[in-house]
Amino acid sequence: MTSTVATLDAPLALPCGASLRNRLVKAPLEEMLSTFGGGNPNDDVYRLYRAWADGGWGMIITGNIGVDRRHIGIMFDMVIPDPGQTDAEARALAAYTKYARATKGFAVDDERADHAPADGQRPLAIAQLVHCGRQSMRGSGRPPWVPSVAPSAVRMQVGKEPSWLDWLLFGTPHALTVDEIHGIVQRFVHASVLLERAGFDGVELHGAHGYLLSSFLNPRTNLRTDAYGGDAAGRFRIIREIVEGVRNNVSKSFVVGIKLNSSDFMQGGQTEDDALQNVRWLAEMGTVDFVEVSGGSYEAPAFAQPQSERTQQREGFFTSFAHRARLSLPQGCTMRIIVTGGFRTRTGMSGAITAGHADAIGLGRPSCLEPALPRKMLDASVPDDKAEAVAWKMPVKPYLLPNIALVGIGWTTIWHSAQMHLTARGQPTDPDLSMRRFFSRLHFW
Ligand SMILES: Cc1cc2nc3c(=O)[nH]c(=O)nc-3n(C[C@H](O)[C@H](O)[C@H](O)COP(=O)(O)O)c2cc1C
Repeated sequence: MTSTVATLDAPLALPCGASLRNRLVKAPLEEMLSTFGGGNPNDDVYRLYRAWADGGWGMIITGNIGVDRRHIGIMFDMVIPDPGQTDAEARALAAYTKYARATKGFAVDDERADHAPADGQRPLAIAQLVHCGRQSMRGSGRPPWVPSVAPSAVRMQVGKEPSWLDWLLFGTPHALTVDEIHGIVQRFVHASVLLERAGFDGVELHGAHGYLLSSFLNPRTNLRTDAYGGDAAGRFRIIREIVEGVRNNVSKSFVVGIKLNSSDFMQGGQTEDDALQNVRWLAEMGTVDFVEVSGGSYEAPAFAQPQSERTQQREGFFTSFAHRARLSLPQGCTMRIIVTGGFRTRTGMSGAITAGHADAIGLGRPSCLEPALPRKMLDASVPDDKAEAVAWKMPVKPYLLPNIALVGIGWTTIWHSAQMHLTARGQPTDPDLSMRRFFSRLHFW
């Protein structure tokens, strides 16, 4: 076995006792496969996750699952029913149980029962939980006239200047009351408990990309002067309460992770130093298993589109921050750092681990095109110079669409969703998927 393969193929233990069989993590990717207005997972979702489960990943993190149907990202996202809805909860539990089974590689009822991977030979199945906050578009899960919610009433700005598009797509959010914040904390706890009962190995809180938790951390979007704002500790408080609430209500061996921004990449937003402080606080809490490092938001989508030329040339977008985060952990702390964004080659991935930038590597877009990418990356008979993600060619965005970062990122997202929809239908992915095929392949119709 070459040293690059050995580095990526090494198991990784988490503080809660669970472990990844290797260092390759399927990053969270919104599937857009549920019902209109947000719903449960379905057969398409199970088929897609069975393909990933068979792909050799150390950990599979699901696309974001909404903790509140009224505040989802896209109309077709998965959601957890509201606390107290007994019938809806029973149906959700049945559907999420199949989802967890599929993600671990087990049979789901329509299949032969001979798929039962042993512990240690299957990926960890982690469900990502989100509240989309001020980035929940008008009409996503709620009537268009009902506002989104956020720490403060700061309107989104998707272009260089404020415009009518900001108002049309997002409107001005309602600033949450303290009681409403407590309700949101409870929703994350309720969802985590349901997902543990369903058989998931853990949850990842979505604290990045400008969604609600990340907007609490960002001084530009959190102007509160009460206990949930004011200074960095106040802005971090909602995350502290959610982590404590989840930990107190799930078993010790349940994985609890969080995705965080290395920076908000906007003037007046969180800096790398602020973000490092958040990582240190999580480490000191001693109950978090991993932090997945990313960056940006809908307003500055650095997570998939590097903001500087230097970053564009580097294989991993956030490795320098991830490295600082690892070095900042108190001695003896085993909270793990996963870095996601821009990785494409085996040497790039193993190099990031050997250099101490991260403990594991998250892969988003490459996993849409190649659900079994780890099989190639961990196959020692494939030489290092051939072990890279397949190159893809997206059709050019029509020039009639506004030339703003959000539209560019939406274009990338929807094209990669179409790849997931091909896998969900049992068809091969297509790195040259054309516009015409791309629209006809989306699951919505
Ligand atoms: C189609 C698509 C959907 C995504 N959905 C999510 C999501 O639900 N949650 C999340 O944390 N990140 C999401 N992301 C961001 C990815 O997890 C990842 O951070 C980003 O794509 C950069 O990694 P990559 O260069 O390996 O693709 C999404 C990205 C794409 C392309």
